[in-house]
Parts: sequence; C-alpha cells; structure tokens
Amino acid sequence: MEVVIVEDAAAGGALVAEAVARLLARRPDALIGVATGSTPLPVYEALAAMARRGEADFSRARIAQLDEYAGLPPGHPECYRSVLARQVLEPLGIPADSFLGPDGSADDPAAACAAYERALAAAGGVDLQLLGIGTDGHIGFNEPCSSLSSRTRLKTLTERTRADNARFFGGDPGRVPRHVLTQGVGTILDARHLVLLATGEAKAQAVAATVEGPLTARCPSSALQLHPHATVVADEAAASRL
Ligand code: GLP
Repeated sequence: MEVVIVEDAAAGGALVAEAVARLLARRPDALIGVATGSTPLPVYEALAAMARRGEADFSRARIAQLDEYAGLPPGHPECYRSVLARQVLEPLGIPADSFLGPDGSADDPAAACAAYERALAAAGGVDLQLLGIGTDGHIGFNEPCSSLSSRTRLKTLTERTRADNARFFGGDPGRVPRHVLTQGVGTILDARHLVLLATGEAKAQAVAATVEGPLTARCPSSALQLHPHATVVADEAAASRL
C-alpha cells in the first residue's frame, strides 16, 4: 500500500484529481468509481477546474457509483445518484447515460444489486475507485464486520453512520435511511486502482487501522492491504496516528 501524506484537504484533492486526469489522458473512456460524502469534494472541485481550463477531457469518461440509499424516491436530492449528478456529472459535462449505479428505489433490492454487479463486469470493471472512509473504517457502506469478500448487496446502517450522515438530512439521524445498497468489499477490491482519501482528525483512528492495523472485517478498509495497487492519501490531521 502506498501512503501519501499531504498538508491539507485541498492538497489531497489536487493530488487525486491529477491521478484521475492522468488516467483519462491514457484511457479517455476509463470507468471511474466515485464516492460521496464531504471528503471527495475537493477532488471534484479540482477536476471541474481542470475541465474549465481545458486541461482534462471528460467527454468519454464513465462513472460508477459506490453505494446508494435504499428506499429514497428517484430524484430525491440526497439520493447518491442525485448528489453525484450535481457534484460530478454536471460540472464535468459527463452525460447521464455514462453513469452506472445500483437502483436504490427497486422493489427487489437483491435483483438490483445483482444487476449492478453484471453492469460493472460488462463495462470492463472499474479502473480507478475513489474512496472515502467512515469514522468506523467503513468503505462504501460496508460497515464493520462486513465480509471482506462481499459483493453488492443490501445493508443496514449502524447508528453511528446514520448520526454521521444526519447533516445531509436536516441534522436528524431519524431521517437518514436505515438501508443501503453498496458495492461489497470484494467488489471494491476488483477495481484496478483504489485511492482512499481521508482528511481531518476524526479519521485518524480509521486511517491508522487501515494502514497499520490487522486485516479484519471489524475494519473493512483494512482490506486495502490485500490490494496490489492501493493508495491512501491522508492530510496531516488524518495521518496523525500513523
Ligand atoms: C458515507 C459514504 C462513504 C463515505 C463516508 C464518509 O458513509 N457511504 O462512501 O466515505 O460517508 O463521508 P465523509 O467523507 O463525509 O466523512
């Protein structure tokens, strides 16, 4: 595992955006896995700035979603498909039909998860998967004790994650959906390059467990230790317990 420590979140965002731009220069139709949450926002802002300056061409890029809330109606502003349309597709000018994701509003979530696995495989697999990390070491929505070989499936969120994400739902954890569809840890490990970005002191424990802790389902992000090409980019605060 490669660990890169940067000064702050903006520097981390710029570094990861450069890696994405280099990939697209090599492979213009790369399938890029994107994450939600606050952490990747500097990456998306840096990519949008590159697009405006004509330094990167996103016209053939394809985007894959990491996870999705279950049960929110299509078009709900906080469903991750909507969030990623606002934060990634629209600013980078990527057409909606270049976007792959699980259908969080499906009546049959298991079938929707299986369909998403098939779609990822048919697309040739994810070239670069951007990951954030939960304070408990979750990646995607693979909460602690998720199987390290899991595939895309329905999961129940922990109270801690619902509290962490309440800020997107008017501050009320009770309004955060209980269930989600998430790429499994095994699905995530199939990507050719994993880039985990972590910023801020609140992530320091999870980053230390990811990089230096035992490989354990109790910390799903420790599965990055199994991957032949995994990069952890942490700012000084998030790296402070390494
Ligand atoms: C959610 C997402 C994760 C993300 C995590 C951390 O749980 N499903 O993909 O990594 O939040 O979010 P933040 O970056 O806002 O701390």
